[in-house]
Amino acid sequence: MSLFSSKSPEIDITDIQLPVHIGIIMDGNGRWAKKRGLPRTAGHKVGAETFRKISRYCSDIGIKYLTVYAFSTENWRRPLEEVNTIMVYFRDYLNEALRDFADDTIRVKFLGDISQFPKDIQELMIENEKMSAVHEGMVLNIAMNYGGRAELVTAMRKIAKMAANGEIKADDIDNAVTEKLISDNLYTAGQPDPDLIIRPSGEYRTSNFLLWQSAYAEYYIDDVLWPDYTKNDLNRALIEYSKRNRRFGGV
Ligand code: IPE
Ligand code: IPE
Ligand code: MG
Repeated sequence: MSLFSSKSPEIDITDIQLPVHIGIIMDGNGRWAKKRGLPRTAGHKVGAETFRKISRYCSDIGIKYLTVYAFSTENWRRPLEEVNTIMVYFRDYLNEALRDFADDTIRVKFLGDISQFPKDIQELMIENEKMSAVHEGMVLNIAMNYGGRAELVTAMRKIAKMAANGEIKADDIDNAVTEKLISDNLYTAGQPDPDLIIRPSGEYRTSNFLLWQSAYAEYYIDDVLWPDYTKNDLNRALIEYSKRNRRFGGV
């Protein structure tokens, strides 16, 4: 056995075609902890570190948009203790980001209905968005209390209100209500659709992530659990993505 056999070689991503927008479903924290006989929350703590590392790496290699799925509309169903501990880690991250991102180029945006979070967390989210709005680097979308269906319902409500208040006329509905109008009323308004969606932890499902936006996203499922996820794992997904033949329904 070679001395270096446990360390896989760095994967070179020079000159490959990078996705403009990457989505990551940060999954597998609980199983990572269980495997080690630790409480699930220990997995969330390490997962939060992985998130810091991978988001920094995406920015460094020139990714323009990164959307991470941090907490779904369905994740409130978990035991209160787990949810409360996740909130503690959110709070820590938001405080740290406020401090560290001030001199950075990353623009932070939250996707989801933030009104269900504790008041101080909501304020931190708003402050983070405001503070980083002037930045011109990577857009970091953090999906928190996000669900693809809830997002579509919110968009439909906005559009229904436009019709009710006369912004959209009854006899113009067929012209006015287009795919673009729906896109423009999602949390990701104005952003390109994701090109690549990565799901660590080996699950083959969307779990309500970017339902509308992912119509033509390339999926990459990785068996690695999120707390173990490395830059090299991301590089592997990027290489695979660069070889995919995207047809968008054409030939
Ligand atoms: C993802 O990891 C984090 C959140 C959903 C908040 P999980 O907690 O879902 O981990 P597994 O899937 O149970 O391993
Ligand atoms: C999706 O993972 C949500 C996040 C990673 C934030 P889940 O663990 O909630 O999804 P399911 O329950 O396995 O579908
Ligand atoms: Mg999970």
